[in-house]
Amino acid sequence: MTFGIRSYREEDRNAVEELLALAFPTPTESDLVGELRQAGDAVIELVATIDGRVCGHVMLSRLNAPMHALALAPVSVHPAHQGKRIGDRLVHQAIDEARGLGVQLLLALGEPEYHGRFGFSQADASGYDCVYAAHTLLALRLDPDCPREGRIIYAAPFNALG
Ligand SMILES: CC(C)(COP(=O)(O)OP(=O)(O)OC[C@H]1O[C@@H](n2cnc3c(N)ncnc32)[C@H](O)[C@@H]1OP(=O)(O)O)[C@@H](O)C(=O)NCCC(=O)NCCS
Repeated sequence: MTFGIRSYREEDRNAVEELLALAFPTPTESDLVGELRQAGDAVIELVATIDGRVCGHVMLSRLNAPMHALALAPVSVHPAHQGKRIGDRLVHQAIDEARGLGVQLLLALGEPEYHGRFGFSQADASGYDCVYAAHTLLALRLDPDCPREGRIIYAAPFNALG
């Protein structure tokens, strides 16, 4: 069995759609990924593969912010392969690539328990004014000099999330 993580390629489109449909209960995440990609808002998009078949996916998308910031969402692993650390490896690689691009801040929406394992926290997000503040906003500072306050606007496709 050969495991790998690499950048998304156009030929992965159907496999990623199928993966997202299996990993999430509604088409919301699949639609979001397609729209972010089409709008040119996807900055880092990785797939995990087992013997060449896509088994995991993560996207980091552009944020309109006073610092170099990206949004981490969504991350998914094929149900048949969950619990094998594939999610961990995908997110860690995405964070490393973001750091390599000079990204100062990553934001995530949602699950403090899951994202907390990568260092995301509500405390680090508390100074940011963001339309998604009603959801649980989580932040991971990659640069200690990153501003701790500021208005951050998610890419337009996130509006569908409400
Ligand atoms: C969440 C998800 C990406 C994790 O990927 P995975 O490869 O199964 O996870 P890993 O094997 O890397 O698990 C690492 C740890 O995360 C924990 N974990 C997995 N899913 C979790 C969740 N939803 N909440 C909290 N912890 C979670 C695991 O229990 C494991 O903990 P441990 O180190 O104490 O054993 C995957 O389960 C998935 O695709 N779920 C459906 C989609 C989803 O909810 N995505 C997240 C929000 S965008």
